[in-house]
Amino acid sequence: MFSEQLISSFGLKKTPFYYYDTGLLHKTLFAIKEVAVLFNYNIHYAVKANANERILQIISSYGLGADCVSGNEIDQVIKNGFNPKQIVFAGVGKTDEEITFAINSNIACFNCESIQELEVINDIAGSLSRKVNVALRINPNLDANTHHNITTGLNTNKFGIPYNDFLLIIEDFKKYENLNIEGLHFHIGSQITDYRVFNKLCKRVNEFNNFLLGKSVNIRHINLGGGLGIDYDEPENQIPDFQAYFEIFNKNLEVRTGQVIHFEPGRSIVGQSGILVTKVLYVKNNGDKKTIILDAGLTELLRPALYQSNHKIVNLTSSKELDVYDIAGPICETTDYFGRSVQLPETSRGDLLAIYSTGAYGEVMALHYNMRPPAEKYYSEELIL
Ligand code: LLP
Repeated sequence: MFSEQLISSFGLKKTPFYYYDTGLLHKTLFAIKEVAVLFNYNIHYAVKANANERILQIISSYGLGADCVSGNEIDQVIKNGFNPKQIVFAGVGKTDEEITFAINSNIACFNCESIQELEVINDIAGSLSRKVNVALRINPNLDANTHHNITTGLNTNKFGIPYNDFLLIIEDFKKYENLNIEGLHFHIGSQITDYRVFNKLCKRVNEFNNFLLGKSVNIRHINLGGGLGIDYDEPENQIPDFQAYFEIFNKNLEVRTGQVIHFEPGRSIVGQSGILVTKVLYVKNNGDKKTIILDAGLTELLRPALYQSNHKIVNLTSSKELDVYDIAGPICETTDYFGRSVQLPETSRGDLLAIYSTGAYGEVMALHYNMRPPAEKYYSEELIL
């Protein structure tokens, strides 16, 4: 990924910055589209993973839809080439203004997360003399075997409609006269690497789909959410195995004639295409521990501090003997570390480090804590001549 030419152009830039390998993004999009077309699956890119305009423009050029969780995301994707008719809108706390904006933007569907929200959407749609499409986001109470802070499909999580409320909605679905209840939506968590979880999800979806068959609710859309993990330990595995992932659903989902299947991948599309480039400010030495202090911190990449997540780190400018370091940011927080006891070539002030796999939930989760300015971003086509 890093030619000498690229590293020397990195050296001319103010650090830290996000670097996007747009060639890899194109390859990843090509790969997911190729397989999705085979299975006739609809892909809505989960914008929360990365809402950078240039990235969105590339993604929209592949004809993907968008999964949004705020009015601003809807606005941003429409401005960057996505078709409103391919936008779905999820989120547990949609405001009245966002609901109104989404209806007026003619999006495809609301992924509705509570019985209370259903009533509000119904009222707002009525006041606009509109009928809107809704998918019920079911909380399937299924453990995704991922980090507990990014699990969403358990009864203890705030997401989705609890089973009892789901039954109430179905019993009386005709009362929502301004809604077409036409879809089921599931999302059980993120960074899922244990594929058996998706088998279980299929089983649960089949149960709901069968149950509704006898209830005259016409479910035309089934949305399986996102969640496919990427390889943070070995980011050289750049493109996730979309074929294997979709095959699980193709094999295990009981799809009825006329039903359309949707997915909302975020991380698996953009994750490996981004890296964070940062400079070494100091190497502290307190007895047997050496600590590298970088000019990037949790303000540019929150994931390690928030989920104890691992991102591969390399020194781009040293090839000396290996040594062992803790790697920290400059922020006044005890959790501002990117790694502990990491092996790196002997590292000194001024070295450039690359932190891998920051394309998803990197730039988009940046903070300005400690009055940090936003980091710059560069794209491979600008830096590789
Ligand atoms: N659909 C829904 C309804 C979601 O809530 C999410 C992610 C996705 C799709 C996309 O999931 P993905 O394919 O990216 O796994 N900030 C955390 C991840 C939070 C994910 C929240 N929901 C992280 O950095 O790991």
